[in-house]
Amino acid sequence: MGAYIITGGRSLCGEISVQGSKNSSLPILASTLLNAGKNAIKDVPDLRDIKVMTDILNNLGAKATKKGNLLEVDSSGVDNWEVPEDMMREMRSSIVLMGALLGRFKKVRVSYPGGCEIGPRPIDLHLKGLALMGVVLKEKHGFIYAEAPVLKGADIHLDFPSVGATENLMMAGVLAEGKTIIRNAAKEPEIVDLQNFLNRMGAQIKGAGTDTIKINGCASCELKAVDDYTVIPDRIAAGTYLVAAAITRGQVTLKNVVREHMEPILAKLREMGCKLECGEDYIYLKADTDLKSLDSLRTLPYPGFPTDMQAPMMALLSTAEGTSILTETVFENRFKHAEELRRMGANITINGNTAIIKGVRKLTGAMVEAKDLRAGAALVVAALAAEGKTTVIGSGHVERGYEKLEENLLSIGAEIVKKD
Ligand code: UD1
Repeated sequence: MGAYIITGGRSLCGEISVQGSKNSSLPILASTLLNAGKNAIKDVPDLRDIKVMTDILNNLGAKATKKGNLLEVDSSGVDNWEVPEDMMREMRSSIVLMGALLGRFKKVRVSYPGGCEIGPRPIDLHLKGLALMGVVLKEKHGFIYAEAPVLKGADIHLDFPSVGATENLMMAGVLAEGKTIIRNAAKEPEIVDLQNFLNRMGAQIKGAGTDTIKINGCASCELKAVDDYTVIPDRIAAGTYLVAAAITRGQVTLKNVVREHMEPILAKLREMGCKLECGEDYIYLKADTDLKSLDSLRTLPYPGFPTDMQAPMMALLSTAEGTSILTETVFENRFKHAEELRRMGANITINGNTAIIKGVRKLTGAMVEAKDLRAGAALVVAALAAEGKTTVIGSGHVERGYEKLEENLLSIGAEIVKKD
């Protein structure tokens, strides 16, 4: 696994155009299976997880071709509903293929998904919802065999607004018989993006972005391909670049952003004392020397503060004046970066799902290891501010989520190289 070598201490300054959303692209790519046609999706980031998804689509019989950030998927030749185990283990979000394949073939075989090491990530909510839609599930030797003699709409209440479960059930609902209602649905912008894409295919979905989503299923309908869709900007990559500028007490202008999607992050950066100027399609941040701690930062489903920004924010809070209390409520065991940040001089105490962060004057370079994607992003931003040289082992994790990370950071004045 590769590493980033970063010499910190430079104030970053410049402009970055933010990549398209990884977490929108993945379900949208999966949903092309529903229409058996030639789709073209723009602004898909060039990332390993996207490559895994296109490899799976090709393995199922689709023709997925990448031309820069344009992804063309011809799903007409898809004739296989068994997702290969090794590919499934590569990426947890491949579970969204279940809903799409059930819609198309009324059957699917998947294995239990892999992905980031951030605590138990069960799929019970996906399976319970599908069962209510008439899907018969059998688990054998680590595989899930699912079949729906009749895929029918259902009234589903999610115990937790799971992003992946909401996406899976939306996809399954489109070609089901009758109406599906998803209550306590996830409200993330990526859910709205998926609704928009599915509706462009001819699906009838309303309510994404609120906690009740209604789908008028049509079992006998043929959906049409979507040949010019652009995915939304990646709000987590955008947030990470804002934190990179803030932690180095620099300034950055982001282009290709949706301000509204960023508000949960911007509110906390503002509270810390960052100066922000926002237009509909840009965000400018400037950070002065003194940044304040946060009395309370809790990760929550959207529109709460995103769990994917928790690790980079922990790095930033490590350099703010005073004591911050950060609580992770979405995932268990998502504090592995705290120990690595401590190696760099951060003062962090973990107590269950709460981190107590006492701001320090400076972080210092060290050899640290990224154990998952966002933990890696936190270590990179910490290294940008740290005195001296930091080696962040595990660049492969970071590359799952950030397109052209070194290039973007170099362009705003960072000193960063990647070693394979
Ligand atoms: C998606 C995002 C991920 C983000 C997360 C929360 C993608 C590809 N990934 O992941 O970056 O961190 O949303 O915003 O979009 N849960 C269950 N049972 C289930 C499903 C989930 O208990 O069946 C729990 C999970 O263990 C976790 C919480 O619900 O504690 C949130 O998970 P979920 O919203 O499903 O996250 P993902 O869709 O996996």
